[in-house]
Amino acid sequence: MTISINLKRIIDDSYPIHIGSLPEINFEGKVAVLTNPKVAGLHLQTLLSTLKAKEVYVITIPDGEQYKTLDTIESILDRMFDHRLNRKSLLIAFGGGVIGDMGGFAASLYNRGIDFIQIPTTLLSQVDASVGGKTGVNNRFGKNLIGAFHQPRAVYIDPSFLSTLAPREFGAGVAEIVKMAVTFNLSFFEWLENNDLREGDNLQHAIKMAVETKARVVEADEKEQGLRAALNYGHTFGHVIENETHYETYLHGESVAIGMVMANDLACEMGLMSFEEAMRIKTLLGRYDLPLTYPIHDVEKFYQTFFLDKKSADSTITFILPRGIGGVEITDAIDAVAVKKSLSKFQGMSA
Ligand code: GLY
Repeated sequence: MTISINLKRIIDDSYPIHIGSLPEINFEGKVAVLTNPKVAGLHLQTLLSTLKAKEVYVITIPDGEQYKTLDTIESILDRMFDHRLNRKSLLIAFGGGVIGDMGGFAASLYNRGIDFIQIPTTLLSQVDASVGGKTGVNNRFGKNLIGAFHQPRAVYIDPSFLSTLAPREFGAGVAEIVKMAVTFNLSFFEWLENNDLREGDNLQHAIKMAVETKARVVEADEKEQGLRAALNYGHTFGHVIENETHYETYLHGESVAIGMVMANDLACEMGLMSFEEAMRIKTLLGRYDLPLTYPIHDVEKFYQTFFLDKKSADSTITFILPRGIGGVEITDAIDAVAVKKSLSKFQGMSA
C-alpha cells in the first residue's frame, strides 16, 4: 500500500533590498535584535530609534568568526526562549556576516522557523552575505557546513554604517565586490579599475551593482544547484586557508582575495584566463591592501582539505574558475596534477 502526501506549493519568498538611510521599521510583535558588543556600541541607538515594536530584546554574542558555532546558536536560542518569543516574533540580524549567518540560522530553527530581517553593518555583508538566505555556522570539518536556506523578509543596507569600518574590514568587502565583477560583469570590473571606492559616491554605486548581480543570481538559482556556485569564486581556496589558519589570521574577504588569486592561477593553467587578466585582478585587489598570497606548507594537505568543501561531492572537487573577466566556469573536471602544480607555486611563498 502506498500513501502519498501532496505538498506541491507555490511559495513567494520575495523581499525588498533597500539601499539608503535606515527607514522606520514597524512590527506588532516581539523583536529580538542579534548583534555584537562592537556594533551595539557604535550603532544600536540608531537602530532602536527607528524600530517600533511591541517589545524589543537585544541579544549580544561575541564578535568573530571563531564564535560562529552551534554552541553560540544554542545560546542565542536560549535567550529567545528566555524572552518568550513566539512564532510570530521577528529576529533582526544587526551586524556583519557572522551575525547575519547566525541570526538567520537561529531564526530558521526557533519554533521551526520565524521571520528575520538583515541589517548588515559591514561592507562584506552589505554586498553579499546579507542577500540570498544562506545561513549557518562552521564546525571542525569546515566553514558553513551546517545551516539552512532561510530567506530574510527584508534587507536594509545603510552605507552610513560603513563610516566606522576599519580599513581591513573595508578591503574584505571590496574583495566580494571584485568577485561579483570578475564572474559576471566586465564593464563593472572596468568601472572598478577606473574609480576609487573610497571617493565620493563610488561606494554606493558599487554596492548597488554588487547587490543587483547577487539578486539576479539568487533568483536564477536560490538553492545553489548550478549558477549560484559561481559566487564561491575564490572561496574553495579561501575556505582551506581559513581552515588551516583557524579563522584567526585572515578576515573572510581577505582569504577570498587570496583564493581568487589562486583560482586565477589555475584558470591560467587551464587556458581560461590570460596572465594579463590575472594581473589586472591582482592589481585591483592590491589597491585595497588585500593579501594576495599565502604560504602553502603542504600541498597534499591543502589539496585534501578541498574535499571538506560542501560543493565537493565525494571524490570530486568543484572549482569556480573565471573565464577571462566577466565570465565563469564551474567545473569538477580539473585534473589533480594540474591543481597541485598550481598550488605548488604558492608553496613557501611569504605572505
Ligand atoms: N556568498 C555566496 C552566496 O550567497 O551564494
